[in-house]
Amino acid sequence: MCGIIGYNGMSNAENILIKGLKNLEYRGYDSSGVALMNEDKIHIVKSEGRLAFLEQKLKSKNILSDMGIGHTRWATHGKPNEANAHPHTSQDRKFTVVHNGIIENFPIIRKELEKKGYKFCSETDTEVIPQLLSYHYHGDIKDAMQKTFVSLEGSFAAAILCKDDKDTIYVAKKASPLAVGRGNRENFISSDVGAIAEYAEEAVFLDDGEFAEIRKDRISFFDFNLKEKEKEFLKIAITPEDLTKGKYEHFMLKEIYEQPEKIKNLLKSKIKNNKIFLDEIAELSLEIMKAEKIYIVACGSAYHAGLAGKIAIEEMCRIPVEVDIASEFRYRNPPVNEKTPVIIISQSGETADSIAALRLANSKGSFVIGIVNVLPSTIANESDYVIPTKAGREIAVATTKGYLTQVCALYMLALHIADIRKTLTDESIRFYTEELLQIPDKISEILSDTSEIKTLSQKYSCKNDFFFIGRNTDFAVASEASLKLKEISYINSSAYPAGELKHGTIALIEKDTPVFALCANERLFKKTLSNIEEVISRGADVLCISQKGQIDKEKYNALEIPHCTDIFLPLLEIIPMQLFAYFVAENKGCNIDMPKNLAKSVTVE
Ligand code: F6R
Repeated sequence: MCGIIGYNGMSNAENILIKGLKNLEYRGYDSSGVALMNEDKIHIVKSEGRLAFLEQKLKSKNILSDMGIGHTRWATHGKPNEANAHPHTSQDRKFTVVHNGIIENFPIIRKELEKKGYKFCSETDTEVIPQLLSYHYHGDIKDAMQKTFVSLEGSFAAAILCKDDKDTIYVAKKASPLAVGRGNRENFISSDVGAIAEYAEEAVFLDDGEFAEIRKDRISFFDFNLKEKEKEFLKIAITPEDLTKGKYEHFMLKEIYEQPEKIKNLLKSKIKNNKIFLDEIAELSLEIMKAEKIYIVACGSAYHAGLAGKIAIEEMCRIPVEVDIASEFRYRNPPVNEKTPVIIISQSGETADSIAALRLANSKGSFVIGIVNVLPSTIANESDYVIPTKAGREIAVATTKGYLTQVCALYMLALHIADIRKTLTDESIRFYTEELLQIPDKISEILSDTSEIKTLSQKYSCKNDFFFIGRNTDFAVASEASLKLKEISYINSSAYPAGELKHGTIALIEKDTPVFALCANERLFKKTLSNIEEVISRGADVLCISQKGQIDKEKYNALEIPHCTDIFLPLLEIIPMQLFAYFVAENKGCNIDMPKNLAKSVTVE
């Protein structure tokens, strides 16, 4: 997805912008550009393709500047070429803009401006912003900004340079994230706080309907009525180690190996008297007692984490749970109210559909618990209560530790609620807590020897269509395992509840169709085994994922994981599946950390 960076300070802006853009690379992009302000003019340099091309172009120009804005573009309106790359300027070259989001009413605005004689140079929606600023500008930049941005429909995080003010970056925000970072006589902006973490000490996210003026020594915030506002800056919780691969070939592998430690830290921070206690939601006891149903709403892998969470919450807390895909929930008029808490799960905290779902739930009177990794972020800021997943910065586009810590946080939430509602005895809560505490070592055990998974990946790398089947917790994992394989190795795969296959999909099973049968769930093992037999008898090439000693290895191909109580199995069972997807993608020479067509945080709907 598109990324924005901006710098205003005493250092060489070009270097800082390029570094910032490199930090944004992981989000996915197809062109990039910067605008640098100096005494004579605003210099604009853009390039199609890799950032290295932009860097080369900039070097040859030798532009001296201590203030500028930059952008990585992920094409939405218009092809990924240099003309459509940001920054865009007004016809009179007064205003230069980079923008994330989508201006939905741009065709109407563009037509009206064209009638007035404005000429456009790109196919983008963004170009209407500088043109409109120029149209409304009569010597007062903020006045032009107000008139421009209130007339735009859709979403925007925009950074603006104006030739008439050589000291300030102006920004505007609605429904697309934008953080402002503060340093010592130097200030920053970015759509992703991680991109400025090595420079800025603290940051604040703009709220919808806010402007900011970024000078070298002062930052001012305004609402869209130009009334000045105070905002509180928070320390940025990202470490320099999060930004490097260390000894690993890819960020994804590094992040897979970080999982035991991340789960351990998350659990340890919340254990009191051998029980899980989430102080973040301590004051919610009354609402939790009254809850009649819980909605879990998320996208992609976070949705799959929700599938695992549903099983735990229903089992432990005896509350019905509905798991919803955010892009569906937001347009479905769901019957949520003050008795139906809504849990929004998001690694990035910036997923557009999840933000919309959160706002809808809030508007209907639900209290929202955000399970979020990136803090500060829009979802963290707007949730009534936040449970941080503490996974650290996740760079690989395909989530691993982000997903696993979400699942773990949901289990912790289930135990917390069960304690409040007294749906589990103290003894059971202690049992589950102890089981959870053993998980990190069991994950480490799986990670300590990956040779079998590597060998299997060689056998399967040439296959085209995979099925992942399972029941209950195994199905929750199958869904995530299938997505991991698809997104990084580009192999088609489907996840299916094992018992549902025979209602149609089994027609697709033929000789050598690869079927990964997740059958570690002890309670349903025999049931899944019958489904395994069904596909074997139709010629499928089956690999079972089971607990140690559970399956007859003479009879079935099986990959074993350490023993674990059924409910927490997703925390273990997904590890070999993440590794399998990783090794297959490696065998196929895929771009593992930045798969094609994908973006790390999906800030458009
Ligand atoms: C898949 C993946 C995505 C995200 C989804 C939600 O590996 O990473 O499916 O899980 O885009 O993102 P967040 O959790 O940031 O809301």
